[in-house]
Amino acid sequence: MITGGAGFIGSHLADFLLHKGHEIIVFDSLDPQVHHGRNLPPDYLSKQVKFIHGDVRNSEQLAESLQDIDVVYHLAAAVGVAQSMYQVQKFIDVNSHGTANLLDVLINKPNHVKKLIVASSMSIYGEGSYNCPTCKKIVNPKVRQFVTEKTKDWEYSCPICQNKLIPFPTRENKPADCSTVYALSKKEQEDLCMMIGKTYGLNTTVLRFFGTYGSRQALSNPYTGVCAIFSTALLSNNRPIVYEDGNQSRDLIHVKDIVQALNLSMERSESKHEIFNVGTGKSVSISEVATILSNALGKKIHPEISYKFRSGDVRHICADISKISEKLGFKPQYSFSEGISELIPWIKEKFILNGGNIVDNSVKAKLELEKKGLI
Ligand SMILES: NC(=O)c1ccc[n+]([C@@H]2O[C@H](COP(=O)([O-])OP(=O)(O)OC[C@H]3O[C@@H](n4cnc5c(N)ncnc54)[C@H](O)[C@@H]3O)[C@@H](O)[C@H]2O)c1
Ligand SMILES: [Zn+2]
Repeated sequence: MITGGAGFIGSHLADFLLHKGHEIIVFDSLDPQVHHGRNLPPDYLSKQVKFIHGDVRNSEQLAESLQDIDVVYHLAAAVGVAQSMYQVQKFIDVNSHGTANLLDVLINKPNHVKKLIVASSMSIYGEGSYNCPTCKKIVNPKVRQFVTEKTKDWEYSCPICQNKLIPFPTRENKPADCSTVYALSKKEQEDLCMMIGKTYGLNTTVLRFFGTYGSRQALSNPYTGVCAIFSTALLSNNRPIVYEDGNQSRDLIHVKDIVQALNLSMERSESKHEIFNVGTGKSVSISEVATILSNALGKKIHPEISYKFRSGDVRHICADISKISEKLGFKPQYSFSEGISELIPWIKEKFILNGGNIVDNSVKAKLELEKKGLI
């Protein structure tokens, strides 16, 4: 069963697992923000899956659907870092309480589930790790809460020698530093699943996805990944809005590589009760993302570098993927430019199918954040 399987990542996972001969149940509430109020599963979802229109907060629906299941992928979630900061209840309800409910059903109702794989997020780390070349030390700074208009000093300095710190791959043992409600709810999902998994001997694996992109990502949802947001703006002939100076960086991973990690977690016994980063181990700056997408879409539109600080945003984060590589044999297959070449034809087709109408909600989202004092 894939909870949230009608979404971006879950639907790609379903395709992959079907191809391998598995039988799949997709359990999804069709959240209106993602599915635009449709009551039917999206067209891209394979007709070979059994679709259940259900909510992870509903015990009866879950208990009934789980009866013949041996592996649960728990992907259902309210997704959106910035949005979670003004919809606190929704995010805690769906992500934390939904997961608690799933666990209650797994331990109290009849089922044969042997494996639970949970989608977590890099956002639980807050800021990535850094290296001070002078002190030869790894530093884990706290997320910036506020960068003043005057200083605009985006980069971190070493607390000991004051020299500039250099971004360094983040390992799974970096302590969590949740700066958003979304992150907090993902950490709670991790902790709940691991605790219950270990207590009841339910083989559990947590995967911390880094920024994921690819076809089927909800384009009109202004709170999803940066590639979807920028592409939507560009297709609408708007300039992508870049916060800070554009040199902040992320580890962006193609959805098919995420699927590889999800599958390895099911197939490899070494995944039992482990937490893994799932990224590429390489980073790209946000300005570069805007430029690469603009070129790929054949647009001559430069991003709008806003020099504004968005509350809770991290400056640099990149995954250390040695653990998942060594234990599960994970190896990302897509560089950023290769991944983009899968994304672009899909976006263009969607744009044409919609008669050139893809709603660019990013300006509205920016105004919303400004109104709430979060920018
Ligand atoms: N996309 C990323 O960059 C990224 C990064 C890190 C972690 N993740 C995690 O991966 C998972 C999948 O994300 P995605 O990008 O595919 O998002 P998505 O929004 O495309 O998919 C999530 C799905 O969950 C469903 N859903 C929402 N609330 C539900 C509920 N109460 N009951 C049942 N279904 C519900 C939605 O309808 C949607 O189909 C999420 O847990 C997310 O937190 C995603
Ligand atoms: Zn130093």
